[in-house]
Amino acid sequence: MNKQRVLFLCTHNSARSQMAEGLLRSLAGDRFDVASAGTEATRVHPLAIRAMADVGIDLSRHTSKSVETLLDQPWDHVITVCDSANERCPIFPKPTHRLHWSFPDPSQARGTTGDRLNVFRRVRDEIAARLEAWLETMAATRGGGSTVEVVRLAEKFGKFSDAWSPRIVGEVNAMHVKVVKLRGEFVWHHHDREDELFFVVHGRLRMQLRDGDREVGPGELIIVPHGVEHCPRALSDEVHVLLLEPAGTLNTGNVQNERTVAELERI
Ligand code: NI
Repeated sequence: MNKQRVLFLCTHNSARSQMAEGLLRSLAGDRFDVASAGTEATRVHPLAIRAMADVGIDLSRHTSKSVETLLDQPWDHVITVCDSANERCPIFPKPTHRLHWSFPDPSQARGTTGDRLNVFRRVRDEIAARLEAWLETMAATRGGGSTVEVVRLAEKFGKFSDAWSPRIVGEVNAMHVKVVKLRGEFVWHHHDREDELFFVVHGRLRMQLRDGDREVGPGELIIVPHGVEHCPRALSDEVHVLLLEPAGTLNTGNVQNERTVAELERI
């Protein structure tokens, strides 16, 4: 069986990405080749080693590595594990399936060694829970083999009501087919690498672009090439849009704010 290759990234490759590496290897090392790295190499945090030893996982021989050393290897999944609210998360510069999971930095904990160790244990358990959920999703989507289904868009749009939060309804090679509801105006952003296709199913969309706006109605589509700044706006109360874009495309592109949805639900 071909193992999938997973790289965990955080800033210092000291605690969270190291714990994630050890946990995934322990949970599913038979199916995944796992590594971790940081924007800069530091050291494996001693409390991360202790918290992992509590659950029988030995990090004592792990080393902290810079992502530079791993750039040339093929990765099926690159998962950043840092606190998106309080840190600048590393960005993997090559196209791959990227995921971002936000966890607090346990090395920022203050207090006695016991207090700090408890913070490491809590973050360890959060990471473990996230990994278990991800493994279940992977098993559900990959294990099904070649089930061919008709996707009924009206039924999919009936399953959620929030705006600007895309759901995945299918995959085409490394592209995700998503559905999203738009209300009001989004944020100006661009995508460094990904082109995006917007197919309007219901309502009217104004795609605001720096060289002028384009209006898109039902049965029409617009493709925004990578690098082009855009800001979608709903002209009707609600617009239903089908999106086609590479897996891992972040809805807010180069901008991270409260509308950023890093992990998409599959419906
Ligand atoms: Ni976009």
